[in-house]
Amino acid sequence: MASHKIILGVTGGIAAYKAAELTRLLVKNDFDVQVVMTESACHFITPLTFQALSGKEVLTSLWKSNASNGMSHIELSRNYDLIIIAPASANFLAKLTHGLADDLLSSLCLARTCPIAVAPAMNVHMWTNEATQRNVSQLKKDGVLFFGPDSGEQACGDIGLGRMTDAEELFKSIQNHLTPKILNNKKLLITSGGTIEMIDDVRGITNLSSGNMGFAIANTAASMGASVTLITSTHQNFSENIKVIHTSDAHSMHQAVLEHINNQDVFISVAAVSDYKPKEKFKGKLKKSDSDMTLQLTPTIDILKEIGLSKNKIFKVGFAAENENLIENAQKKLKAKNLDLIVANLIHESMGLEDTKISIIDKNNVIDVPKSNKIVAAKAILKEIAHRIHSDK
Ligand SMILES: Cc1cc2nc3c(=O)[nH]c(=O)nc-3n(C[C@H](O)[C@H](O)[C@H](O)COP(=O)(O)O)c2cc1C
Repeated sequence: MASHKIILGVTGGIAAYKAAELTRLLVKNDFDVQVVMTESACHFITPLTFQALSGKEVLTSLWKSNASNGMSHIELSRNYDLIIIAPASANFLAKLTHGLADDLLSSLCLARTCPIAVAPAMNVHMWTNEATQRNVSQLKKDGVLFFGPDSGEQACGDIGLGRMTDAEELFKSIQNHLTPKILNNKKLLITSGGTIEMIDDVRGITNLSSGNMGFAIANTAASMGASVTLITSTHQNFSENIKVIHTSDAHSMHQAVLEHINNQDVFISVAAVSDYKPKEKFKGKLKKSDSDMTLQLTPTIDILKEIGLSKNKIFKVGFAAENENLIENAQKKLKAKNLDLIVANLIHESMGLEDTKISIIDKNNVIDVPKSNKIVAAKAILKEIAHRIHSDK
């Protein structure tokens, strides 16, 4: 079952093309999206585009109803978690303010029983016009959420406020709004990405970890209300409210963990930390020769084990990426490293990929999460963590 049901209302403006990307992001992240377009919107982008992206017929008319009683506008106002209007034209904001209901989208907005958010998109002078600003202030009083607009260069050549917020930012705002704050007041320390152990000044031993799982966990935890510190080797588009510390090798990651572990509630070790490093790092660049070369390796510190076996009362979560005997090996690791929870995944089903198939394991249970993208998997992991740290009290 999809995680959230959402109506995406598209109105007539150049930014309608950005709603296509928003649809793709929502669907990719397990949202059930019903697109409803105004007649003007269909002049800018075809319903077929949204149908292909959402996998559902796009609704455009009050008079072509799919509902058995012929009243799509009432049917559609029920059982949805959110209506998002993106782009929201100046005209549509005016209609919403005054409760006009002369097409399908405005009618279902008037009949809604769920929250509504708008992402305005218009020329700067349309946005700053007193009439629009009066409407905006009334809509805010009525509880309508505003995502944007942003400032910048506009399609008409003007510069200023009125650009529709980009799809990725909109997606984050929607996700944030719909995510229950089950980690409010909790502090999470997360490690993520791979490590690189330098052989000389330009070469190193590394692995295929993309950092995507840690990225998904960190962003989702922040949207669940947690205060997140992320120690990572990767450079991604993290939520602004995440404290990001960049490290490169196992040693610097270890140092950063020790520096930040105090007063945290949860430690999640997602990073693929190298088990070995070169015994000696060569200065400069090693010269090529025709003879064989032997590189002596020495173990790195096992950060997760050190924290697991420490007296720290923090809730400890590890990851086990295995080739075979997944559950058995993960259970052994859970015990050996004294963890509260371990997330097990097969390397070929997860590492470096967008999707993953995980099992969440504690002392007594194995919870299998079906193959999903990493944000959906992150939600499942964080729900299990939240459930356990709240019931520990
Ligand atoms: C080329 C073109 C671009 C337009 N861009 C916008 C826009 O970005 N924002 C806006 O509020 N209106 C824009 N309009 C005007 C709206 O399309 C018009 O007000 C329409 O009635 C809106 O209808 P709707 O709110 O039912 O979708 C544009 C019109 C044209 C012809």
